[in-house]
Amino acid sequence: MTATEISQLQTELAQKSPRVILKAALQRFDNIAISFSGAEDVVLIDMALAYRKDIQVFSLDTGRLHPETYRFIEKVRNHYHIDIELLTPDRDTLDEMVKRKGLFSFYEDGHHECCGIRKVEPLRRKLAHVDAWITGQRKDQSLDTRQEVPEVQLDTAFSTADHPLIKFNPLLNWSSAKVWAHIEAYQVPYNDLHQRGFISIGCEPCTRTVLPNQHERAGRWWWEESTKKECGLHADNIKPEVTIQSDF
Ligand code: ADX
Ligand code: SF4
Repeated sequence: MTATEISQLQTELAQKSPRVILKAALQRFDNIAISFSGAEDVVLIDMALAYRKDIQVFSLDTGRLHPETYRFIEKVRNHYHIDIELLTPDRDTLDEMVKRKGLFSFYEDGHHECCGIRKVEPLRRKLAHVDAWITGQRKDQSLDTRQEVPEVQLDTAFSTADHPLIKFNPLLNWSSAKVWAHIEAYQVPYNDLHQRGFISIGCEPCTRTVLPNQHERAGRWWWEESTKKECGLHADNIKPEVTIQSDF
């Protein structure tokens, strides 16, 4: 797709429902995959199967997911009779980091190194082999980083000069309440962690429950500033910091 075509499609899809966005994505791309985190983005799989039975689905198996999430991924696989590709980190790079810094270095110097190895590199490997991907990002997940996300975009984080990659965000305009209404109405399976107060779910050491009225994102990487709470999968959500030139 050219930049003009992306921008035309974005105009068509702005503010549209998940089904309309998903359908447009699947009509345009054969080699497209859903990136499934093992949380409420399961509704993407539920909806996409109405359009394509052999939809590609993958999850990033960081090695640090909750046991409940591994069980849930298996449940989804059996419930929908689909394959779910589990992408694992490069063993040598991971071994080297753990040997050098241990298992919890992210509490000391931030999550980017660990996320880079356990999530971003395996994702980059996968995305090199598809033309487009589908994520469960929603605006209401982050007031700091997801308000400007479009329904369809050129993925500036993972495209290369030879391989432009398109990213679709069908759930963008749905609230958490709408996602959960769909889960209930269509009897969609969900991660048991949600029954124990978890809202946003990532890796076990970097996810916690939130207090009443706290934003769901407060349960992710809680020791870091909210504007840094993107792990690199959606690095294109973070605008470069403005540097103020000083004459002094
Ligand atoms: S994250 O970047 O902060 O971890 P978040 O948990 O909000 O992302 O999920 C947003 C979307 O990113 C998910 O709906 C999914 O498409 C993708 N995603 C996040 N984590 C994973 C994962 N472990 N495996 C596959 N996709 C993921
Ligand atoms: Fe590592 Fe935490 Fe990132 Fe998971 S979320 S890859 S454990 S820093």
